[in-house]
Amino acid sequence: MRVLGLSAGNPNGSAEIALKEALRAAEASGADIELVRLHDLRLSSGPDAGTDDTTWFWERLLACDGLIVSTPIYSRTIPGLLRLLGDKFSGPHSDVAFTAEIIRMRATGETLAVDFAVDERVLRPRVAGFIAVGGAIPTRWRSLALPLLHTLTTSAQIAVVDQLEIAGAGSQGSVLLDEPALERAARVGSNVASQLGRPYDEAQYLGAPGLCPRCHLSVMLLDGSDVECATCGAAGRLAVVDGEPTVQFSPEGLAQSVLDYREKLDHFREVQQTAARHAESRDWITTRVAEIATWDPRIHPDR
Ligand SMILES: Cc1cc2nc3c(=O)[nH]c(=O)nc-3n(C[C@H](O)[C@H](O)[C@H](O)COP(=O)(O)O)c2cc1C
Repeated sequence: MRVLGLSAGNPNGSAEIALKEALRAAEASGADIELVRLHDLRLSSGPDAGTDDTTWFWERLLACDGLIVSTPIYSRTIPGLLRLLGDKFSGPHSDVAFTAEIIRMRATGETLAVDFAVDERVLRPRVAGFIAVGGAIPTRWRSLALPLLHTLTTSAQIAVVDQLEIAGAGSQGSVLLDEPALERAARVGSNVASQLGRPYDEAQYLGAPGLCPRCHLSVMLLDGSDVECATCGAAGRLAVVDGEPTVQFSPEGLAQSVLDYREKLDHFREVQQTAARHAESRDWITTRVAEIATWDPRIHPDR
């Protein structure tokens, strides 16, 4: 069983130190470990799109049973570079429902309105742990970090079994002053190691509880008394229980979570139906796109 660690912070910075604590603990629990430093990867974008290590990273991910991502918090969320990597490896081709359905439909000869390159290795069970390290102490400077980390694991339905925020580690390496945080980071590693090989529905969540029973975070969208988890889409209703406000999630509301296989299947079908509808207007769309492209008010840097 292999655990892949991804360090998204400065070389030897606090996020990387916390990750090493986690990986050491995973190794002590019997896992093989690998550490990838995001800053070692070439991630191309724009006109200079050339050498790119995304495929290399994707192969490392496909070869692992557990993933631990440790990142600094930038502007209350995760660094753009980590999102760039996420955009490059996640999406339809890393989605478990897209993968399973496309493989099935190709085998039965059913028509796909839109096809994607898929790899059945995506379907192997994987678990994950997250560590987000911030410089600030108040929670309001960290609110969007863990929700955004989930975007890295949602498509492949990697079960997040632990997630941790560390505060007040702003100057280089200062997480070393926070012994409880380092011990908790180590527990992320042993918790991930303890769940390796478990399918999504059997992996046990071992982190701190949150309002949402699916992603265990508490970042919510409110519309009157309707509640939707901003991280995973589980739907619930505000309620008062024993005089305390809370959110109640029905089985149907939980099935709306983008982490739920039924929602992933619905999403796949919806994408196919929408693509089929668009195909009926393809010639008209192509003509209009060409017309609009003739008006080009762009500016760009001289090279
Ligand atoms: C561009 C930038 C934005 C930051 N924004 C936040 C923030 O919103 N909240 C926070 O707690 N820390 C913030 N920080 C501080 C970093 O999260 C902190 O320094 C972190 O520990 C750096 O980790 P590293 O040394 O592992 O790279 C920011 C740092 C930078 C460089």
